[in-house]
Amino acid sequence: MIRIGEYQKHFGEVPSVVAVSPGRVNLIGEHIDYLDGFVMPIAIDRNLVIEAAPTEDGSFEIVPVQVGFGGPAKFGKDEIHRREAKEDRWMNYLLGVISGYREAGFEVPGFRAVIHADLPAGAGLSASAALETATALVIEALGDTKLGVVERALLCQRAEHEYAGVPCGIMDQLAVGAGKAGQALLLDCRDYSLRHFPLPEELAVLVTDTGVKHALADGEYRKRRENCESAMDLLGVDSLRGVSLETVEAGRSLLGETLFRRARHAVTEMERVTRFATALEAGDLNTLGRILREGHESLRDDYEVSCPELDCLVEAGYAFGSESGHIGTRMTGGGFGGSTISLVRREASAALQAHLVDSFAERFGTKPYAFITSAVDGASIHTVE
Ligand code: GLA
Repeated sequence: MIRIGEYQKHFGEVPSVVAVSPGRVNLIGEHIDYLDGFVMPIAIDRNLVIEAAPTEDGSFEIVPVQVGFGGPAKFGKDEIHRREAKEDRWMNYLLGVISGYREAGFEVPGFRAVIHADLPAGAGLSASAALETATALVIEALGDTKLGVVERALLCQRAEHEYAGVPCGIMDQLAVGAGKAGQALLLDCRDYSLRHFPLPEELAVLVTDTGVKHALADGEYRKRRENCESAMDLLGVDSLRGVSLETVEAGRSLLGETLFRRARHAVTEMERVTRFATALEAGDLNTLGRILREGHESLRDDYEVSCPELDCLVEAGYAFGSESGHIGTRMTGGGFGGSTISLVRREASAALQAHLVDSFAERFGTKPYAFITSAVDGASIHTVE
């Protein structure tokens, strides 16, 4: 449920526009969006909302309400630059987008805004891409510009690179922008084309947030990208797409153990996405489950981006068993914490949720936040009459 009215509570008048951006989970295709791979995310029914109205003097006033960012911020139209102080860093997603529109030659009117969300931040569910995308939509609506969904996603990705300091791929910004209700998106991260795959009616998607805060800017994410670039140099290829597992295996001693394992994850994950899409079309749930498990193991062992909390949820999922309705569970998103997704037969979803929460609580002493979600449409903007 999207609630609005926070702007009115805060500023005592109605906003002019309301931008709503969902978060996303990725079903398969992890850490290969920045390697020209295919990925298969869905936009989820948890949102970040920006209610906004223009200011007369072109200044900005941003009030986050219970979104896990920092406190309110005010800045003038000449103060659009990257913030370094820890408590201000959340603003970089917004500032980077404002700066991106300006650099592209668009007018960016100042605005007053309230941000709220039922999408948790730092949970690997793309709250940052949602913040960027909702900001972009506010700027477009107030400034009378309209970018296409791919152009907007690229602009938001640039904000994340240049302002937030995370060298992310394009998956999150495209997924929250181009999501379709009831469908998984197959995104080709080389040419940004996409295809839709209906999700079987009998399947529910369960998200479980470990509560371990991932901080992709901390450097491990960047290191993985660099590892893959070094592996490509050594293998003499421009891209890992189309490189076979045999080629990577033949280069094992040249690559050394770490780079070999990073490259092996990339090429096997690319192949898993293709197999997953075929199994999804065929409604072959057993194969989907197997691929999710292989994907998790590859992220855990070869790419080394999992953590004990994520592994515990995955083990608990498979222990629940396919005979009880579990299809598959794996970590989703960048890793180092964040969330898992499970595909589960709809009638078993509440029981699986309870099982994952209890298994996690038994081992770590805290109850993770878990919710059943579904694929929804991408971000949208609404004008308040
Ligand atoms: C983060 C990044 C994405 C992608 C995933 C891993 O969410 O923002 O671009 O690389 O990690 O698949």
